[in-house]
Amino acid sequence: MINELEEKLKLIDNLNDFNQLKVTYLGKKGLINAKMANMKNLSPEEKKALGQEVNILKKECEELFNAKEKEIHNALVAKQIASEKIDVTMPGYNFNLGTIHPLNQTIIDLENLFIGLGYEVAEGPEIETDEYCFEKLNLPKGHPARDMQDTFYINPEILLRSQTSPVQVRTMLAKKGKPIQIICPGKTYRRDADDATHSHQFMQCEGLVLGKNITLADLKGALLVMAKKMLGDDRKIRLRPSYFPFTEPSVEVDVSCHKCGGKGCSMCKNTGWIEVLGAGMVNHHVLEMCGYDPNEIQGFAFGIGIERITMLKYGIEDIRNFYTNDLRFLKQFKEAK
Ligand code: PHE
Repeated sequence: MINELEEKLKLIDNLNDFNQLKVTYLGKKGLINAKMANMKNLSPEEKKALGQEVNILKKECEELFNAKEKEIHNALVAKQIASEKIDVTMPGYNFNLGTIHPLNQTIIDLENLFIGLGYEVAEGPEIETDEYCFEKLNLPKGHPARDMQDTFYINPEILLRSQTSPVQVRTMLAKKGKPIQIICPGKTYRRDADDATHSHQFMQCEGLVLGKNITLADLKGALLVMAKKMLGDDRKIRLRPSYFPFTEPSVEVDVSCHKCGGKGCSMCKNTGWIEVLGAGMVNHHVLEMCGYDPNEIQGFAFGIGIERITMLKYGIEDIRNFYTNDLRFLKQFKEAK
């Protein structure tokens, strides 16, 4: 019987067949138990002898089954290990890391710079009211300066903001006469035909500082730091008189050309200077409309074109490059700082 079992076990290579065979031998109605079927008809001596014999047989069978079970288990584990083997020398997957968009990089640079100077970053909605985008900024309906900032109207009173200046209005109304020192970067919209330097959607970063005894000299100081940080330590700035309805006096700010150092080149159209932004002292009428007493508190505002300064910094000639998602363009800014 034992030899026969050994032969049968040799042929088995899976747990199913193994379990079936085990039941055939060691089960309640199995071959081993069957040997004791006519126990009741035997004499006490014969009973004892048969009992011992069957016990030994049972033990031997169990040992054979246990050994086989181990063998099957080991084979299964070995198979699993083989199939799950990891080749640590295989080359890894190549993940393509994205890069920061140059316009976002400029916003980050401006935020870092102005936060360092004590400014806070303020935000406002892109869908604005005519009142906040124009009227409270001294641009009543019919004002000729509205022409430059024609935009997309949702209805006669609601529009896509043509400048980030309404965030100034919102901040002034919220601060109720208290000092302010903010920049507000964000998207703006105008009814411009898209060409190499214009887009119907672009970005600005407005600045507003209100307090006691704030002067044009403070504006000049802040903008000089900005020009140096954005376009190089050797930059100089100059202010030229200009006009904005919401500032008085108003200035246009030029930065000495970072390409030729001011000698004159194609970038600065041989003037040595590049116009970068508009600014001025906040118009007293605007202060009054936004709840400030101009005799107590006054200050300056400036508006930087994010695309413009980014184009100048990296020598980008077509504004449309920023929006067309061409990887050949975007990948060039991997190391941009
Ligand atoms: N908002 C103005 C524009 O878009 C720029 C500006 C801002 C000028 C603040 C002066 C002061 O033209």
